[in-house]
Amino acid sequence: MELFILQCNIGSLNKLMCPILLVLLSAITFSSTEAFDALDPNGNITIKWDIMSWTSDGYIAVVTILNYQKYRHIEAPGWKMGWKWAKSEIIWSMLGGQTVEQGDCSKFKGDIPHCCEKDPTVVDLLPTAPFNQRMANCCKGGVLSSGIQDPANAITSFQLAVGQSGTSNKTVRSPKNFILKAPGAGYTCGSTIFAKPSKFRTPDKRRVTQALISWHVSCTYSQFLAQKTPTCCVSLSSFYSDTIVNCPSCTCGCQNKITQRSAGTCVGSNSPYLASALAIAGKINSYTPVVHCTSHMCPIRVHWHVKQSYKEYWRVKVTVTNFNYRMNYTQWNLVVQHPNFNNLMESFSFNYKPIIPYKWINDTGMLWGIKYYNDWLMQAGPDGFVQSELLFRKDKSFTFEKGWAFPHRIYFNGDICVMPPPDEYPQLPNESNSRITSLLHHQKILVLSLLLLFFTNP
Ligand SMILES: *[C@@H]1O[C@H](CO)[C@@H](O)[C@H](O)[C@H]1NC(C)=O
Ligand SMILES: *[C@@H]1O[C@H](CO)[C@@H](O)[C@H](O)[C@H]1NC(C)=O
Ligand SMILES: *[C@@H]1O[C@H](CO)[C@@H](O)[C@H](O)[C@H]1NC(C)=O
Ligand SMILES: *[C@@H]1O[C@H](CO)[C@@H](O)[C@H](O)[C@H]1NC(C)=O
Ligand SMILES: *[C@@H]1O[C@H](CO)[C@@H](O)[C@H](O)[C@H]1NC(C)=O
Repeated sequence: MELFILQCNIGSLNKLMCPILLVLLSAITFSSTEAFDALDPNGNITIKWDIMSWTSDGYIAVVTILNYQKYRHIEAPGWKMGWKWAKSEIIWSMLGGQTVEQGDCSKFKGDIPHCCEKDPTVVDLLPTAPFNQRMANCCKGGVLSSGIQDPANAITSFQLAVGQSGTSNKTVRSPKNFILKAPGAGYTCGSTIFAKPSKFRTPDKRRVTQALISWHVSCTYSQFLAQKTPTCCVSLSSFYSDTIVNCPSCTCGCQNKITQRSAGTCVGSNSPYLASALAIAGKINSYTPVVHCTSHMCPIRVHWHVKQSYKEYWRVKVTVTNFNYRMNYTQWNLVVQHPNFNNLMESFSFNYKPIIPYKWINDTGMLWGIKYYNDWLMQAGPDGFVQSELLFRKDKSFTFEKGWAFPHRIYFNGDICVMPPPDEYPQLPNESNSRITSLLHHQKILVLSLLLLFFTNP
């Protein structure tokens, strides 16, 4: 829903048309679970099911999960994957993963299978798993990085020994109805398709082997399926105006009494917050955030401050604040769309990479924390924020007028952040041109005098 509110605000549509369009658009969009993100049009998580060898009653398969999304990742407590067997298959054993439940294996004597469920759910092993249960690319506690941020960790695998499945390509059937949870809802998986057999390079890289049969399943993300309310909002300020535009109130919920278990549970700043956060945490679903009480109630706020203007450059300070007491965001990331991003000169304490889904979209970039420095966005509290400054070169379209200096769109961890309405953006003061120019002039003089000071000092 917020996506279209956003577009309504940004577009030049008049206020009467907007609600009508909204209703139309929401009717179209939400009737389908199809997810389409213009900034990552091919983004998906692909599951490859490769049969490597036949056994006396089935086969050995390596299942690989590949995150082909540029900026969406899966954080702890990690992914869960499920499917439905086509026949009465069982899993004799697993490496690099395990099923959540064993199910009813009572009809087996002697060797007892790892899992007898008709629709098993698999989770990753923890990084501490013993060596005899591991395999290549496994055991990341379900964490799957995004393609841009950490491509080496955007892949994970486990191995299965399947029984009662048929032992040739004529008798086996592909598993179906795949489910991917991250660990909540959001992903929808398509049907299982036959693919060209996957190829594998031996460790010495001197030989290539291939799977006997390969099946692929592709899963796509929809923010609407993941959560019905937004989880992030944007606030704005600038050096040329005293106005600080806060996040729209009730963006992510409205404040309720602390005892209520719904969204809207929040913790005041003067309460002994950790104790109450933990007390609330005990009463509600483990993924529901417990946020610091604010007017917007969002777990995440991104603040964009237009900080300074130089002759050829201008500078922005971006601050991401975590209001969620129940979440340390590891490997957090931002995707920001602003017309000046094709002229970003420097991002001072975040990593940066442009996102160019099509030739004509070159105004978008991804920002994320520097490893061991600020790649953890700590839970709400005094350390619950990360920030950096961005230096842009002024291009031909540069102006401080009409809110040009503010971003068009921001995603936090792949979910869109709600922007304030454009008519509330900080405005240039009325005697704008003269004052800004004089401001700039002053800065130039300051720099000059500093330089003079520097050079004249013995
Ligand atoms: C999934 O992503 C891969 C890599 O970008 C792409 O080749 C493939 O076509 C995508 N699958 C779907 C169904 O979009
Ligand atoms: C099974 O293998 C045969 C011979 O390699 C091949 O022609 C056929 O297409 C395969 N069938 C399936 C369903 O993969
Ligand atoms: C976040 O990390 C800190 C430091 O590692 C830890 O003390 C705290 O319990 C973590 N909070 C959550 C909600 O996991
Ligand atoms: C970005 O796209 C615009 C519009 O298509 C184009 O005019 C401009 O040259 C592009 N800039 C770069 C750096 O590619
Ligand atoms: C700027 O001018 C408009 C009318 O031209 C006026 O309504 C507004 O109050 C003025 N703003 C400031 C900050 O002086």
